[in-house]
Formats: sequence, structure tokens, C-alpha cells
Amino acid sequence: MSAAPPVQYHALGRSSPGELAAQAREGLLRPAAQVSPKFFYDALGSRLFEAITELDEYGLTRAEGAIFEAHGRTIAHEARSRIASTFDLVDLGAGDCAKAGRLIPLLQPARYLALDIATEHLRPALQRLQEAHPELPMIGIGTDFSERLALPRTLCPGPALVFYPGSSIGNFDPEAALRLLAQARELAGGGALLIGVDLVKDRAELEAAYDDALGVTAAFNLNLLRHLNRLLGSDFDPRQWRHLARFDAARSRIEMHLLAREDLTVRWPGGQRHFAAGEGIHTENSYKWTLPDFAALLCDAGWRRPRHWCDPARGFAVVLAS
Ligand code: AVJ
Repeated sequence: MSAAPPVQYHALGRSSPGELAAQAREGLLRPAAQVSPKFFYDALGSRLFEAITELDEYGLTRAEGAIFEAHGRTIAHEARSRIASTFDLVDLGAGDCAKAGRLIPLLQPARYLALDIATEHLRPALQRLQEAHPELPMIGIGTDFSERLALPRTLCPGPALVFYPGSSIGNFDPEAALRLLAQARELAGGGALLIGVDLVKDRAELEAAYDDALGVTAAFNLNLLRHLNRLLGSDFDPRQWRHLARFDAARSRIEMHLLAREDLTVRWPGGQRHFAAGEGIHTENSYKWTLPDFAALLCDAGWRRPRHWCDPARGFAVVLAS
């Protein structure tokens, strides 16, 4: 028996499967093939990402968890004091809702709004959280905020604490990150932002985090091809591709690519693309920031008074701004 009502669910401006397929085809046909990292997150991709967060080499999630463990009370207290009234907690890319679940008792928001592109994954997680907090109104929103972040006033009328953990901001190039953070400020309506950022560190450590010994990140990257096969009706064979992750220090980003192991042609209804051996598909950028550069980015987006907390190794930061 469940005490809590079923969580309300909204789909917001989501691209239809047909539109997503068109975006993917357009990216595959560019001279340098490229597809958005959002195509990682089908049901298996979301689970593979969760497995990544448990890898020895992938310290981000643990570092962020340790920061909230050590400083959660201070962070929550400061966030509450910066928003003079009740506020909604708006979780960008809520996923399994675990991080918000730990913060909710400290933050005591009026409502919890969970946004995610991968809705199959979000629904059961949100319902479990609702069972744990039957009194807290919760709303699930299926949306691709990488296109544009905005909520109708009816869904989020008051001030909000926009919560964007996990360094997912790293998927955006600096220009797009600026746009997203400015949209987050509009959405917050005089509230605040609490955001996790992975910091620039040693190349070997960065590259290992995206090319782990067990090959989980390789599987995560290759799984995108299976997702594309379903979406486009294409005939990618993951065995013909290999995973590549490398740090581009000049751009301060990890790049992930899938490289063709041999000459091959991928076909889908109405189209095809030849790949020479070694030619690739660029699947992800993960930008790494320094604290001063990230503070400047926040400032350019209109956010003020950034305050940060780091893990002991200073590899990751949680930043509050208002
Ligand atoms: C979810 C975007 C934060 O960039 O570290 C993990 C995704 N890609 N391993 C990241 C990812 C490869 C992750 N983010």
C-alpha cells in the first residue's frame, strides 16, 4: 500500500522521436560527424551512467557527495538565508533523484520539481521519493532543457533554488553554459543557484575518469549506437567502433569520440554515411573549469555573490550564487 498520491507528470516542449531522429541524422552527415550527448541516455545508458559513478576512476560523484556530506548544513542554511521566502527546489537532470533526496530535509523546500530528459528513469525514482516525503508536493517534468530552460509560471510561480549537480554544466561549451545559466537565473525568480562543477586537474586523472579499466565508459559511449539504431533504424554495429577519450587542454575539455575500427558504411532508411577507418563521431564534451573562470561565468550570467565549497583534493566544487 502506498500512502503518497501518484506524482503529477508534465511533458514540456519535448522533441518527438521523429525530430530527435532528424537531429541525429543531421549530426551524422556533418563533415566531422557529431551527435549530442543527450543520445547517451536511453534506459540502459542511464544505468550505465549510474555504474560510471561507482568506478574508482570517476571521482566526481563521490567528491560532490563528500562536499554535501561535510558542508550540507552550511550550504542549505546559506541557500535558505539568501531566499527570504519559501521556495521550490528545481532539480535539473534529476535522474534517480538521490542527490535532491538527501538535500530535501536540510532545504525544506515548498515543492520539488524534477526535470529530466530520460523520463523512463525519472518516473519510478520520483515516485519512490514521493513515498518517502508524502507531504512534499512533487512534480516530474520531462524536458530537454539543453535546448532552452524555461518553465511556465503555472508550474513554477515563486522563487526557486535551481539545483544543477554533477557537473553536467560541463556538457555545454562556455557560450551555451552562459545562456543556460542566464535562463536559470530567470527561472529562479530572485531565488538562488546551487551547482556542481568539476575542476581542471591532472591530465592522467581526467583521462582515466573517462576511460576506465572495466570499460564501463566505453560501453556507455558505444551504447549510443544502439540507441541511434532504434531511433533512426540505422545499422551501426558497435563491434566496428571503439571508444576514445582525451583531454584537450587548450579548450579545457574532455572529448569523447567513437572511432571506426575499419572502413564502413552506416545505412538508415533514406540515407547513409561512409566512415574511413579511424574516422570518428564526436559524442561528448565535458568542460573542466577553474574556480575564477567559473565565478566569472556566473557573474556574466547575472548571478552574484558566488560562494564555493570544495572536496579535500580540490577537484570538484559546489557553488552557491544568488
Ligand atoms: C553527466 C555530463 C556530468 O561529463 O562527467 C561520464 C557524463 N560521460 N562519463 C561527465 C559522462 C562520460 C558526465 N556528466
